[in-house]
Amino acid sequence: MKNVGILGFGKYVPEKIMTNADWEKLVETSDEWITSRTGIKERRFVVEGQGTSDLGVEAGKAALKDAGMTPEDVELIILATCSPDYRVQNCSSLIQKKLGAVNAAAFDLEAACSGFIFSLVVGQAMIQAGMYKRILVIAAESISKLIDMQDRNTAILFGDGAAAAVLGEVEEGYGIISSYMGTEGVDDGTLRIKAGGTLYPATVERVLNREIYVEMNGTDVFKFAVKALPHATKEAAKKGNIDLKDIDILFPHQANLRIIDAAAKRLGIPMEKVFINLQKYGNTSAASVGIAMAEALEEGKLKKGDLIALTGFGAGLTYGSLIMRWSK
Ligand code: COA
Repeated sequence: MKNVGILGFGKYVPEKIMTNADWEKLVETSDEWITSRTGIKERRFVVEGQGTSDLGVEAGKAALKDAGMTPEDVELIILATCSPDYRVQNCSSLIQKKLGAVNAAAFDLEAACSGFIFSLVVGQAMIQAGMYKRILVIAAESISKLIDMQDRNTAILFGDGAAAAVLGEVEEGYGIISSYMGTEGVDDGTLRIKAGGTLYPATVERVLNREIYVEMNGTDVFKFAVKALPHATKEAAKKGNIDLKDIDILFPHQANLRIIDAAAKRLGIPMEKVFINLQKYGNTSAASVGIAMAEALEEGKLKKGDLIALTGFGAGLTYGSLIMRWSK
């Protein structure tokens, strides 16, 4: 089996900062409530005319630069997103065009906040199968365009951003060791956008009823997450014959500090080993784990040889984990 790992990595977040104080001006909330219930202090929002593809392109360029590659070197783009520029066509094709990745095929993978982990698993399998040598995996989201700006229960959680990884063969002893993907299918509004799809097309009435925005049962998602994150991480560790004590850094989906804290406790991983940056970006859905990894790299905290675990959960409900030895 080929050892598949990351040859280049990068992130991009939009410039506009939306603080808790900004939210206080829009809905009945407070910095104190948001900070104590979630850990989030601020998040980034795209501006009018900026789409998910624009974020993905910038993250993709950063990852290619880090890998010392050009867009022409990319053979396949896998984009993890649940906030594409258009309902139809795939957003990865827009990235392919804007990036000038003329030799690459491109498709989107929709697994909500688990999307980056799922995409890395798919990319790894395709390289191991001998189909491709260099795959650009991007996770990009502009959830700010999909939230109900009047709904304090949900809207304050989310932010926008992107991360990207160039996947390829790495030396023996490095790269992806094991992974686990899980799904607990629901169809009850636990976490979804109801209207605008084929079952409930976006009629004027549904738009006026605000059904085109994210709806969420926060309590149900919370309960799911505190079980799913540790379960996925334990399963991935078991498959890779890894002792969780040997994990150097855990990169959890940056949804809520209390969820991360509970998951880390269940895993017996001390919080000093858990990378957290949700205070700056909020929940950037599929992009959150990648943005956290990119920041750990920028801060010199993620180093060659580190054993790391990525773990996420999201709408669907999907969840997953991936363990790798960092190869750069
Ligand atoms: N500001 C002030 N008050 C708020 C608020 C806000 N932004 N949002 C909700 N409230 C209120 C609620 O209306 C409720 O009031 P009530 O008791 O009068 O009905 C009260 O705060 C408590 O709400 P509750 O739902 O019990 O809070 P919580 O401690 O469970 O925290 C979440 C709510 C959403 C932060 C939490 O459930 C959560 O993070 N869930 C997971 C969501 C998630 O991660 N989603 C993304 C998955 S990818």
